[in-house]
Amino acid sequence: MTTTDTIHAGYTPAGSTALQRVPQTRHLATEIPGPRSRALMEERRAQVSNGIGAQLPVFIERADGGILLDLDGNRIVDLASGLGPTALGASNARVRERIRTQLDRFTHTCFMTTEYESYVEVCRWLNEHTPGDHEKRSALFTTGAEANENAVKIARYVTGRRKVLAFTGAYHGRTHMTMSLTSKSHPYKTGFGPFSEDVVHAPVPTSPRDDAGSVDSFLEQVRAALVENDAAAFAAIIIEPILGEAGCLIPLPGFLAGLREIADEFGILLIADEVQSGMGRTGRIWAIEHEGVVPDLLVAAKALANGMPLSSVTGRAEVMNAIHSAGLGGTYIGNPLSCEAALAVFEQIDSDGVLERATALGEIALEMLRPLVGAGNGVIDVRTRGAMIGIEFGDEDTLVPSSERAKAVTRYCHAHGVLALTNGVHENVIRLLPPIVIEPDLFRDGIQVIIDGIRSLDGPGS
Ligand SMILES: Cc1ncc(COP(=O)(O)O)c(C=O)c1O
Repeated sequence: MTTTDTIHAGYTPAGSTALQRVPQTRHLATEIPGPRSRALMEERRAQVSNGIGAQLPVFIERADGGILLDLDGNRIVDLASGLGPTALGASNARVRERIRTQLDRFTHTCFMTTEYESYVEVCRWLNEHTPGDHEKRSALFTTGAEANENAVKIARYVTGRRKVLAFTGAYHGRTHMTMSLTSKSHPYKTGFGPFSEDVVHAPVPTSPRDDAGSVDSFLEQVRAALVENDAAAFAAIIIEPILGEAGCLIPLPGFLAGLREIADEFGILLIADEVQSGMGRTGRIWAIEHEGVVPDLLVAAKALANGMPLSSVTGRAEVMNAIHSAGLGGTYIGNPLSCEAALAVFEQIDSDGVLERATALGEIALEMLRPLVGAGNGVIDVRTRGAMIGIEFGDEDTLVPSSERAKAVTRYCHAHGVLALTNGVHENVIRLLPPIVIEPDLFRDGIQVIIDGIRSLDGPGS
C-alpha cells in the first residue's frame, strides 16, 4: 500500500477533460469501520429498518474509478460496483456531464404523459445492440425486478399462458413475482409468502460439480419439468446467462442453446435476465452472446445507466407491440436523468474499449487466483467471465461448501480495505463485480489482499 498519491487521471474518456478526483490507491487511515462510520451506524440503527442489510458498515464520502473514500479517510478498493451498476466508475465524467445538462432542463415529465427524446434514443440503442437482427422494440422501467415483472407480463399476454420455468440458484428480484422466480429462500423469501404457484424450478449444469457431458441430462430435466407441469401452460423460461447471486455460476456450454430449442419446441418465450451480467461486464455487451443464443426478451438494468435507476425489456417487435396501449408503464419509467446516464454509457461502450477492459480484468483474476484452487486453503473453483468473478470455497476432496471460509476471507478483505462480497447458494462464494474502469494495478492490489486472506486460513478446506 502506498500513501504517496498523485491525483489520477484514471478513466478519462476521449473528449472529456474531467479528472477523477479520488487517488486510486488503497489507504487505511483508521481501522474499518472507523469512528465516524461507527457513530453513523448507531444512528442508522436508530432510524433505518433492520430489514435493510449492510455488508460493509462504512459511510462513503466520495467514490471514483476503483476507490470508495469513506468518512474516516479510508480508501477502499471497490470490487463490488454497488452490486454491479457503477461499471464505469461511481463518478464517471460523461455520465456526470450528461446528467448535469439534463438537470438544468427538467428532471421528470413521465414518459407516458409527455415525451422526451432520450427515452427513444435509449430504446434505439437497445434494439440495435441486443442479440438477433430481427425488428425489436423496447420499454424502459426503473429497477431490475420491475423489468423482470414486465417481461413475465408480456410473455403471459402474448402466449395466453401463466406458468414460468426458472432455475435453481436464480435471483430475479424482491417483488412478489420475482421472489417467486428467485430460488434461494433466505434472506429473500423467508416470511414473505405466499408465492406464485405458477413458477417451477429446474437445475442448471455448472462447474465444478457437473461435467460437460451432463448438459443433455440437464436439458432432459428441463423438458421433464415442463411436461410434468403441462408444457402447454408455460409462457416463459427465464434464466440469468450467468447466475450472479448464486455465485457467478456459468451454465455449461450448450445449455442455453438447448433451452432455446426447448422453448421453440413448446412455443415458450425465452427471457434472458441480463440485469447483472449485461452491459459489458463479461467482455461482451450481453453474457448470452458468449453462447450465441438469441432470447425472445432481454432484460437489462444495473450498469445500463451506471448507477442511475433504469431498466429495460427488449424483444421481438411483434411481441412487444402486441400489448394494448397503456398496458405497460409506471410513473417513473425511464427517468430522463437515468436515460441521459445510459446514453453516456452507450457512448463509452461503443468507443472506449470497455469490453476489452472487462476481459482483461477476468484474465488478471484468473492468473492470480487459479493457482490457489486445490492448493490446501479450501478454494475449490475460480471462474470468470470478464469482470464477473467467483471464488468458491469448500472441501477440496468432497466439494462440500464452506461458507465459514468465504466469510473469513471477506472479513479479512474488509479489515484490509477491500470491498469483496460473499454470496452463492451456500454463501460459500466471494463474488467480485469490480468497476470495469478500475486501474489494473489497483485491481491486482485488491486481488492480492484476497489471496493473503485465503493464505491466512488454516489447513485444507473442510
Ligand atoms: C440477475 C438479477 N435480476 C434481477 C435483479 C433485481 O434488480 P433490482 O435490484 O434492480 O430490482 C438483480 C439484482 O441483483 C439481479 O442480479
